[in-house]
Amino acid sequence: MIRVPARTAAGAGRGGGVFGPFAKRSHGPRPRGAAAALAAALAVGAALVLAGCESPSILRAEGSAGNEIVTLAIWIFAILAVVLFTVWVLLVFVIVRGRRRPESEASQTKGNLGIEIVWTAIPAVIVTVLFILTVYTTEQIALPDPGAQFTAVGRQWWWDFQFKELGFKAPNEVYVARGRTTSIDVESADVIHSFWVPQMGGKVDMIPGHVNHIHFVPLTDGTYLGQCSEFCGAQHGRMRFLFVVVPPKEYAAWVKHQQQPAAQPAGADAVAGQKVIASVGCGSCHAIRGTGLKGNFGPDLTHFGSRGGIAAYTLRNTPENLLRWIQDPQGVKPECNMPNVPLLPQQQKELVAYLEELK
Ligand code: CUA
Repeated sequence: MIRVPARTAAGAGRGGGVFGPFAKRSHGPRPRGAAAALAAALAVGAALVLAGCESPSILRAEGSAGNEIVTLAIWIFAILAVVLFTVWVLLVFVIVRGRRRPESEASQTKGNLGIEIVWTAIPAVIVTVLFILTVYTTEQIALPDPGAQFTAVGRQWWWDFQFKELGFKAPNEVYVARGRTTSIDVESADVIHSFWVPQMGGKVDMIPGHVNHIHFVPLTDGTYLGQCSEFCGAQHGRMRFLFVVVPPKEYAAWVKHQQQPAAQPAGADAVAGQKVIASVGCGSCHAIRGTGLKGNFGPDLTHFGSRGGIAAYTLRNTPENLLRWIQDPQGVKPECNMPNVPLLPQQQKELVAYLEELK
């Protein structure tokens, strides 16, 4: 599970943590020699510790398919470890014995039928056992499928989770009910992506013009990181999403909330921001249900303020980060489809206030 401090300032500054890796190179005086080496070592150490805390590991599975896959991986690892250990022991034995008898020629086994049969049979048995374990795991993963609850559409470089029957979209952050089969149709709007929540297990390619499918049972409440797993262009690495597993009641509440149209702004800046967003052309890409914005190309912003991340979790969702994003999307996420829109500082401030109120 990853920890997502929802509304902290973490990630607000330059380089903001694991998910806001935009450290600009410092132009200040540099430490030299040993001090620089020590600083670098400490930085690498800290990065590794942070990565250990927050990186999703397939070995910490919290989904039905993930559990089966981890069990299979452990079995295969154990069997191969025994093979490796046996080979090493035999190798050491032969080397030691051979050195004690440097003059003698190695005994020849060519034509020894018994030995030929044994060393053909042993690998055949090992491969057969691995095959049976793999087929068994595949069968265990293949649960009855209740039919897709939503469609995940991959786009350069974000995720459009479309709940067509329920009438809403939840870009880049999707909730599912713990203990129930989560069934997802996946497709792509542009190039090949791959849907992957490492801790749920399994991944599936998202292919333009073709609907693929994945289903599994999330077993533990938590917020998990999803990551595109097929190289899809410049920002493939920053094509992430949050996969939130909650109890069924909370899931129902989330659905109900997502179905609501956008909240009316209350604060003075937010009220002004609503006018700004309607006047500067955001609606050609973005939709906000309940307003005049009906764009289809970019993420639906109806409940933007309730989400944990910005730009497919490139940044954490804080007012400071949102301001940074609005000021310079091409600087934060080069080659993304969001253009740098020239806005006055006051307009930027109002826009941030409005979007953050869209809970
Ligand atoms: Cu989308 Cu890689």
